[in-house]
Amino acid sequence: MIPTPRWPLLLCLLLATSGSAQDAATHAHMQEHLERVNAIRDAILLSDVESVREPAVWLADHDPLPDIELIYEPFVLSLREHAVEIVSAADVETAAAATARIAVDCGNCHRATDVEPDFGQARTPPEWSDLASHMQRHSWALDRLWEGLIGPSDIAWSRGIRMLAEAPLLGVEPAWDDSESTGDVLARRVHELGVDAASALTPEARIIVYQKMLATCAACHAQTGGGPRPD
Ligand code: HEC
Ligand code: HEC
Repeated sequence: MIPTPRWPLLLCLLLATSGSAQDAATHAHMQEHLERVNAIRDAILLSDVESVREPAVWLADHDPLPDIELIYEPFVLSLREHAVEIVSAADVETAAAATARIAVDCGNCHRATDVEPDFGQARTPPEWSDLASHMQRHSWALDRLWEGLIGPSDIAWSRGIRMLAEAPLLGVEPAWDDSESTGDVLARRVHELGVDAASALTPEARIIVYQKMLATCAACHAQTGGGPRPD
């Protein structure tokens, strides 16, 4: 047996396996990211500031990928800073603002590394028939805006806007609250923000719209006891 010719092959095999092991590690790490930011967003939707802390602490403390290139570190540092802001947030608005910023941190690194995460864009929204399905459509639209930030993806962002352009749900249900129709004001605001979202072209402008939207959903859920049911 002559060992020499085999070396290049062996080397290739080694490189190939270490490459895919690295991809697998990145993939797993990204899924962990996504799980944590989604948990934070969902807790905010329920106006539950307490529950944002645990996933935010993870994002603030977690070890980045060991082989990450130095030029990408600023994205990680920025992400951590915003996670720390969430951990110490005293109210939903502050937490919502930092959450929108994190989504853009994710998006900035994806843009820099030339990655376009695939969130499975093919899904269609539920039909609108009642309050619950109107909410599911809100939720669907907000998911697209979220993917628009994290991608970053203009296509996802536009799909969210189109859905939010539909008519708000006013006075269809029994009064949102006893005193006056604050619910109607909030319902209208969601759709006004949808219009704002259409003219938000920069990440900075999108952060502002998204954080206001999240805070508006949260405010109405806090008031009505509605909101997505935790899994
Ligand atoms: C340091 C740069 C960097 C940061 C910060 C970053 N990502 Fe990524 N992300 C990547 C790279 C590189 C890939 C491609 C990985 C691959 O090839 O599978 C990726 C891929 C993804 C994917 C695609 C599917 C997958 O799992 O591979 C998702 C989803 C994702 N990232 C979510 C996030 C979220 C959410 C955040 C913010 C909390 C985030 N990423 C922050 C670099 C980053
Ligand atoms: C005007 C008040 C109001 C606003 C604004 C509002 N919601 Fe709701 N939401 C409710 C109420 C009330 C329920 C409970 C509905 C029920 O139990 O059928 C609910 C329920 C939900 C549900 C659960 C639906 C289901 O399947 O039972 C989701 C998801 C949801 N909202 C998402 C959102 C999102 C995302 C936004 C912001 C874009 C938002 N909501 C804005 C009042 C509001």
